[in-house]
Amino acid sequence: MLSKSLALLMLLISLGQDAVTGYEDQLSLGGNLFLINRQYTITADYIPNDLVMPNVARSSASVLMRREAAEALEQLFAAAKAEQNYTLTAVSGYRSYQTQNNIYRRRVKNAGQQTADLYVALPGASEHQLGLAMDVGRRASSRLRASFGNTPEGRWLAENCYRFGFILRYKAEWVETTGYGYEPWHIRYVGVEHAQRIQALNIPFEDYIALLREAQRAQTVPQGETP
Ligand code: DAL
Ligand code: ZN
Repeated sequence: MLSKSLALLMLLISLGQDAVTGYEDQLSLGGNLFLINRQYTITADYIPNDLVMPNVARSSASVLMRREAAEALEQLFAAAKAEQNYTLTAVSGYRSYQTQNNIYRRRVKNAGQQTADLYVALPGASEHQLGLAMDVGRRASSRLRASFGNTPEGRWLAENCYRFGFILRYKAEWVETTGYGYEPWHIRYVGVEHAQRIQALNIPFEDYIALLREAQRAQTVPQGETP
């Protein structure tokens, strides 16, 4: 019987060459597939060069994302409004290394080391520094709570964000893999094609990237040779 991971790998290989192209993207800092977590970090001086303010409801004066992600966010929020009359709010987008550092230290002070480590990335380890992540709330609220996942808006976000190129990055059942607690408010832009696949596979981004690597390796094995 095929193992689940092998079946997923074969599915990805069958998705064709663009999956491998996606993997190539991940190697450059500009790629929408760039993986960042506790293991893979970026330097303090990395600042995306195309940050813009999406034209959406927001809970603070400045909420920035990279241009492509910002445009996708505008479409996502517009769809929430048009289809369900939900008002989604952009709470936190791009964060500099220094801002992430401040948030982390404040959380340690207020909630203790363990909680801070479960919900806030160390500086250099946050997707927010990539300018590809957004924390999303309801209406004008800036409160980010696990209960958001049980609200109509939170459920709609989880079920529909892939249509616009976003994934829910930190599901409760993925804590072991992602290293972070359940964050129904944190969406990450990866582009529509990859988001659709990740949604269908229902796997953490780490696993998806690993599958792309496997698919790439499998495709580069010369015919007639065993890997
Ligand atoms: N809350 C996520 C893990 C971050 O700080 O990037
Ligand atoms: Zn976040």
